[in-house]
Amino acid sequence: MAEITRRIGLSLGADICWPACFEALMKRLDLRIPVGGDTVRFEVERVTIEPFDLRQPVKYDLVVDRLTHWFHTSREWIKKGILMNDLYVFNNPWSVQANEKHTTYCAMMALGMPIPETWMAPPKGYEPGNPDLKPTLNRYAKLFDIAKIGDKIGWPMFMKPYDGGGWRAVTKVDDAKAAYKAYEESDKAVMHLQAAVKGFDRFVRCIGFGPQTYCVSYDASAPLHDRYTMDRDFLRPGEEDHLRKITLTINSFFEWEFNSCESLHKDGVWYPIDFANPCPDSQVTSLHYHFPWLVKAYVRWSVFCAATKRPMRKNQEWAPFYEIAKLDLPFEEKLDRYAKIALTRYQADEFEEFCHKHLSHLDEQTWELFGTEEAKTAVRQKVAALFPAHEVEGFTELFWNRIQMWRMESHGAPRVAPPPSMPSTRELPQERD
Ligand SMILES: Nc1ncnc2c1ncn2[C@@H]1O[C@H](COP(=O)(O)OP(=O)(O)O)[C@@H](O)[C@H]1O
Ligand SMILES: [Mg+2]
Repeated sequence: MAEITRRIGLSLGADICWPACFEALMKRLDLRIPVGGDTVRFEVERVTIEPFDLRQPVKYDLVVDRLTHWFHTSREWIKKGILMNDLYVFNNPWSVQANEKHTTYCAMMALGMPIPETWMAPPKGYEPGNPDLKPTLNRYAKLFDIAKIGDKIGWPMFMKPYDGGGWRAVTKVDDAKAAYKAYEESDKAVMHLQAAVKGFDRFVRCIGFGPQTYCVSYDASAPLHDRYTMDRDFLRPGEEDHLRKITLTINSFFEWEFNSCESLHKDGVWYPIDFANPCPDSQVTSLHYHFPWLVKAYVRWSVFCAATKRPMRKNQEWAPFYEIAKLDLPFEEKLDRYAKIALTRYQADEFEEFCHKHLSHLDEQTWELFGTEEAKTAVRQKVAALFPAHEVEGFTELFWNRIQMWRMESHGAPRVAPPPSMPSTRELPQERD
């Protein structure tokens, strides 16, 4: 019986809080998992950025990646690792690169999801210098009136980049005049025009991590630190299951292992509006009360994948979803079948059994970790990176107290009034989704 070490690499950028808690939790868990006659142990290390030989080996079994969507050196190193060194990574870098918001809308429309009516328009401006640009536009670009599209879709509509994220350049447009202005300002960006879900009564963000899902009631009008609300019981029977299946279907279709899906509810229908968020917001400054769940989800899924050496799904396989989409069935029945594909692909049953057998102490260890100065320091460091100096202590306490509320409730305490929030003069950077 040999002792085997599985190496988990964290490919990080501005992340501070979740990796610190992930590392601390892995240390506390001190796992020794029997797999096929051997004992599997884990080492966690942060991936560095440096020149690499395409033929050099990769020392990691699994990489949790937070850079692919914008940092190309790491993305290409990861691709080499997958192609040449049997590396497992979340998320699949080709899928992140190729499937922007537009693709996700089209694909999920094809599967029958009620995506609000969405158009795409050519951009207002272009990069100069391409000699082909003028003849192309002169010959083929048809004049159009953006307000006429608004009339067709209905007002208000949302104008947002087809490859959007982080609320960049998203405008609610109420009439023709506002549409002309927003289009003018959109400059070289290729925009979607999307019907607003007017008067929605609930907004939910469902985070998916492998087969794990978690729904949060989201308040888009609140400051960033209050958008993930601490509301409970905001879903009616069956709705959580529905949103779980939607998220699993999307993630599995694109082979994303962590992503978040935003849906708006109106008149009995959940409209998914933004679900191209692979590498979702994982910061305590947004998630606070919900942060321990996410850290646990990171640990569970990476330990499961690394311990079992689950093969990474390198290519997408859309055909089985389209086979179901073709059937003459009500959407809910199709959704059941899509979700079944996802559950099989994510090995949901094996995963549950694995967690039950080998990670039964995770809840308690997480609970303990989030009572320590070590965890509080991780929170403070993230707050210090984002908030002005005079707000650091106040917001550290705010997020910490929300986490303490989670701790008390997870040990059976009844809900008490959450600590009062406060305004911030923090300049955005907005998180990714
Ligand atoms: N169709 C829509 N109906 C109502 N609100 C919308 C719609 N599309 C976008 N929004 C609002 O705009 C915000 C940003 O749009 P979203 O598509 O999520 O872009 P991003 O990818 O930048 O997060 C959403 O969180 C929501 O508040
Ligand atoms: Mg969004």
